[in-house]
Amino acid sequence: MNNELFRMDGRRALITGGAGGFGVTFARALASAGADVALVGRRPEPLQQAAAELSAETGRRIIGIPGDVTDESQVRAAIDVAAAQLGGIDVLINNAGVNVRKPTTEFTLDDWHHVMDTSLTGAFLFTKYLLPGMITRGWGRVIHISSMLGWVGLADRPAYTAAKGALIQFARTTALEVARTGVTVNCLAPGPFMTEINKPVVNNPTSYQAFLDRIPLGRFGDPQELAGAILFLASSASSFMTGSVLTVDGGWTAQ
Ligand SMILES: NC(=O)c1ccc[n+]([C@@H]2O[C@H](COP(=O)([O-])OP(=O)(O)OC[C@H]3O[C@@H](n4cnc5c(N)ncnc54)[C@H](OP(=O)(O)O)[C@@H]3O)[C@@H](O)[C@H]2O)c1
Repeated sequence: MNNELFRMDGRRALITGGAGGFGVTFARALASAGADVALVGRRPEPLQQAAAELSAETGRRIIGIPGDVTDESQVRAAIDVAAAQLGGIDVLINNAGVNVRKPTTEFTLDDWHHVMDTSLTGAFLFTKYLLPGMITRGWGRVIHISSMLGWVGLADRPAYTAAKGALIQFARTTALEVARTGVTVNCLAPGPFMTEINKPVVNNPTSYQAFLDRIPLGRFGDPQELAGAILFLASSASSFMTGSVLTVDGGWTAQ
């Protein structure tokens, strides 16, 4: 195999939710392959800590940019800071996400907006504003972090499943719009992994066991098990893949 396919030298990436469980793993994977990376999230402290650690570890430029993906002016400001410090962004990973677990009848409109605005509208805003530069430069990668719950339903996650399914359709449409420009748009659909977002499931012995029983591989994934998948999608290795979904779910959706 030609490992050059997976090199990211000279590429600049922006990762939303960049200091979270997946965000740090994605940043490490891309920076270890040669990319400079901007991490965006609401809380400055974990961002600065992740940026300092990853930059010491990989020797690449890693910057933390505080910003809320649901706020258009903050999205534009974050993109301006990234462009000023790193140059134009070649790889966008729309990874910021939240979950609210309640039946539909108990879901409030605020719950709905909180989940949809973060996962779906945030991805729309970053994609809208970063695509033009990628098109002009003739190369780009947009990757939405969907979920196995973009493919299948699960009770008590009405907005989360709707947002993750919508990301797949959004990727397909944008992929078609930019198909002749050198820019690809795809989704990564992870199954259950051990990160902060799943603490409510993992910390409850009943729901934890119920999940384990449904995962064919019999365990939650370690975020590091997504490093190869994100590097594939972000690099030239995936050049003939667009409008598609890479599912890494321990077999959940095989059932
Ligand atoms: N873990 C899993 O099993 C799993 C499976 C499938 C899909 N996913 C998806 O993977 C993505 C990453 O999740 P994770 O597992 O890494 O969870 P996580 O550790 O909770 O990370 C989520 C990140 O999103 C950021 N974020 C939340 N709202 C934001 C906002 N409005 N603006 C900017 N950043 C925001 C958070 O940082 P701040 O709070 O500082 O803003 C946090 O760093 C999510 O989209 C999730 O739905 C996770």
